[in-house]
Amino acid sequence: MKHTISQELFEILAAEIEVLKNDRKAVILAHYYQRPEIQDIADFVGDSLQLSQQAADTDAEVIVFCGVHFMAESAAILSPDKVVILPEEKAGCPMADMVDADGLRAYKKRVPGVQVVCYVNSSAEVKAESDICCTSSNAVKVVESLEGDNILFIPDENLGRYAAKRLGRSLQFWPGYCKTHDRLTMEDIQTAKKEHPLAKVIVHPECREDICQEADYVGSTAGLIKYAQDSEAQEFIVGTESGILHRLHQVCPEKKFYLASERLVCPNMKMTTLEKVRDALKTLSPRVTVKEEIRVKAKATLERMLAL
Ligand code: 13P
Ligand code: SF4
Repeated sequence: MKHTISQELFEILAAEIEVLKNDRKAVILAHYYQRPEIQDIADFVGDSLQLSQQAADTDAEVIVFCGVHFMAESAAILSPDKVVILPEEKAGCPMADMVDADGLRAYKKRVPGVQVVCYVNSSAEVKAESDICCTSSNAVKVVESLEGDNILFIPDENLGRYAAKRLGRSLQFWPGYCKTHDRLTMEDIQTAKKEHPLAKVIVHPECREDICQEADYVGSTAGLIKYAQDSEAQEFIVGTESGILHRLHQVCPEKKFYLASERLVCPNMKMTTLEKVRDALKTLSPRVTVKEEIRVKAKATLERMLAL
């Protein structure tokens, strides 16, 4: 996938960022949904789980997180001694905003003893009120690790239903969803399959339930990339955010990838630009911090997941 800026501008900004990054002893982490030029200057590009592991393990003094707010916040929870920067402070996740700590506390009061699995796409306050965290790559494993049948999955109902179905377990769900993945319809998939009859359909579990059922493979962003690499198929219909195409083309240059819908663009993921990364390194802001009382509880929820 091409950069969204000219090659000349890319080279100027990339060089400026490199100098600032070394001065600041910073590491740049980027999610697979970021603009191609951001992925190309990052030290590490990954899915949510890999990025939180990197954030927990890095020796750098500054973490520049090219992603959305909950991702940078997870880095701040896991590495309180580091300066964590989110180059665009308005880059949030609408799904994460669909559950808040007050709403969750009220639910727990209504359903005593409920165990709460929270998707990493959630605020620090919500994580602090939950028992264990999960990402799209380990949701099945996390639910499997819990005993009993009084389990609430928040906030992504599609991912929760996908995990429940895989395990044949019954869960309680929160009515949250990703506004980007929700734009993908069965009609889009059927049209794409007609146009590309030999292609495998690979989708993210944030897609609607009927789409996950129809797909040849369902997985996290890193899971989708691995599947495409390992598969003998040469063509793929891709049901997740457009940014992943950059990595797919890099790792499988000989294979063909078709985005299942042009609407699969997360506006929040696209807010980060190279200019904002450069300015963030210059000013060490906007900084993401978490109140210590919340951080300690949220860290325990994340660490239960990381220990699995
Ligand atoms: P991954 O865990 O697959 O990286 O997904 C994160 C996300 O926000 C998907 O919309
Ligand atoms: Fe949130 Fe969906 Fe964007 Fe992921 S793609 S950050 S879940 S809005």
